[in-house]
Amino acid sequence: SLIYVLNGPNLNLLGKRQPHIYGHETLADVEADCRRLASELGHDIRFHQSNREYEIIDWIHEAREDGAGIVINPAAFTHTSVAILDALNTFEQPVIEVHISNVHKREAFRHHSFVSHRADGVIAGLGTEGYQLAIRRVASLITSAGK
Ligand code: DQA
Repeated sequence: SLIYVLNGPNLNLLGKRQPHIYGHETLADVEADCRRLASELGHDIRFHQSNREYEIIDWIHEAREDGAGIVINPAAFTHTSVAILDALNTFEQPVIEVHISNVHKREAFRHHSFVSHRADGVIAGLGTEGYQLAIRRVASLITSAGK
């Protein structure tokens, strides 16, 4: 089946952006790793990044129509977006939330996530490897749901 991997604002600069926090891998590297793993597991991937909230909402609606699973790193929208939470609440397939950094070790404003109110699981602080673990989890949840 199909897995959407959605990335929020500033993640287009991954690898250049605060590498002491987010590491040196680029988003293209992450995408390549996600595609490799998904095809190994027999799944297809739609990999997207946007700095605009509405695009992420539109992709969640698209995933809903496709009956896909979602891996999402909402980036700063994690901490601000009721609209992304509402979009995810229209969605019934597995959702895993990923953060490259350990948000709980950082500023207090990063400790709350709107998206966690809906996510089936949350990965934080495992670097970009978190995406791989999230894909494995979504893949097994989709399979165990018999889809
Ligand atoms: C992030 C953590 C967020 O707090 C931050 O706004 C990001 C990236 C992460 O992957 O660690 O942009 O989601």
